[in-house]
Amino acid sequence: MRFPEGFVWGAASSAYQVEGASAEAGRGPSVWDAFCARPGNVRGNDTGDAACDHHHRYTADVELMAGLGLHAYRLSIAWPRILPTGTGPVNDAGLAFYDRLIDALLAAGITPYVTLYHWDMPQALQERGGWQNRESVGWFADYVTAVVRRLSDRVRYWMTLNEPQVFISHGHFEGIHAPGLKLARRDALQAGHHALLAHGAAVRAIRAESRQSPKVGYAPMLKPRLPASSAAADVTAAQAATFTAMDEELFNNAWWLDSVLHGAYPEAALRHFGADAPAVQDGDMESMSAPLDFLGINIYSGVVVRANGDGLADLVAYGPGHASTAFRWAVAPEALYWGPLLLHERYGLPMYITENGLSSLDWVSLDGRVHDPQRIDFTQRYLLALARAIRDGADVRGYFHWSIMDNFEWAEGYRQRFGLVHVDYATQTRTLKDSAYWYQQVIASNGAALDAPYTYPRPDARPTAAAAVTTQQHGE
Ligand code: FCB
Repeated sequence: MRFPEGFVWGAASSAYQVEGASAEAGRGPSVWDAFCARPGNVRGNDTGDAACDHHHRYTADVELMAGLGLHAYRLSIAWPRILPTGTGPVNDAGLAFYDRLIDALLAAGITPYVTLYHWDMPQALQERGGWQNRESVGWFADYVTAVVRRLSDRVRYWMTLNEPQVFISHGHFEGIHAPGLKLARRDALQAGHHALLAHGAAVRAIRAESRQSPKVGYAPMLKPRLPASSAAADVTAAQAATFTAMDEELFNNAWWLDSVLHGAYPEAALRHFGADAPAVQDGDMESMSAPLDFLGINIYSGVVVRANGDGLADLVAYGPGHASTAFRWAVAPEALYWGPLLLHERYGLPMYITENGLSSLDWVSLDGRVHDPQRIDFTQRYLLALARAIRDGADVRGYFHWSIMDNFEWAEGYRQRFGLVHVDYATQTRTLKDSAYWYQQVIASNGAALDAPYTYPRPDARPTAAAAVTTQQHGE
């Protein structure tokens, strides 16, 4: 199964999750620093203070990426490194770090895909109301302008917001992510409205300031509805439900997509939210739907539905023991078939899968390797589904595995490991997992390696004699 020529094979991360060095080079605190500092918010009271220490180790990390043969790396810029107090003078040392990182990537032949907001608003701006304050639109545009002026001679691919549904729902409604607010639904939606306006302002700022013709995108998440069978009624029901189902409220897909890509909030959601719908000023919808060059989409799982005879979709629960990740997210490879196809039909833009992956309970084995067969099998199944979607017409240009390395997984702290590369946080030792070697083959063969199932154990992954002796001693 080969992918189209020029298909971009990548991996992703985000600033707060990997960088560490949280008080260095003039960086100010972000909402995530403040959230982590309040005991009980994050599992184990873990913080991103040190994370993967990528801020200091980026050179070696880029070498690892180059070794895997990555074509592209999706990183995010930390807003509080650029504008430590949110407004005022730009922090040159903050920009200088991204200069160095981007230069290292380019020297290694890796194209940077840059996300401008992956959830780390400067805490100083949160104290002025954060996304609840409509002035956030201008704050974000000023930050984006500073970044694009400095980096756009070398960066062409930009994404504005990562998963607004998550930082609005988890962060402003359920209170389980930074800034930890449990607002009324109306206020959370209003904050989301401002974030979408900030997205639109950022699109315009990138186009105005870029030193080369930019490719501008957006990276929301999608949880597609998957038809229980190939019967036309199930397929139609799944397609409709993907864009109209309101069972997950602020996570509903169309709210964050139709607004930006069609310039209108979806009718079904407006009916559902009623008086809680945000106040929209003249010109807002045009402003947030400035034309994009591509749609980035993060897809991890999906929900199965069946047509119920009334033209509606009933949820079909996964059976007992259904495959799931360490996070307990259902394994649903068809999400990478239906998701891209349904998005293609509705929006038509070129797409990148900007995140997909799984957490598993990985550790370094006695043989010194990290054996993660679930990650290989999961990714193989999802990529085979993606290849079918492309064959059936979805215009997907690239795939970014989440994540290049284990990292700070938000409210779960360091417990969830999503990396192709294992990180020992006590020593910051990196170990390539079996999945990293496997992904290297997938990239090198442009997907042809997916045709054969991965078999275990690989001859090159057998325990070494030294490890076998250690095992014996433990058994005595
Ligand atoms: C997504 C986030 C990303 C990471 C993965 C597991 O929602 O964008 O930062 O946490 O989930």
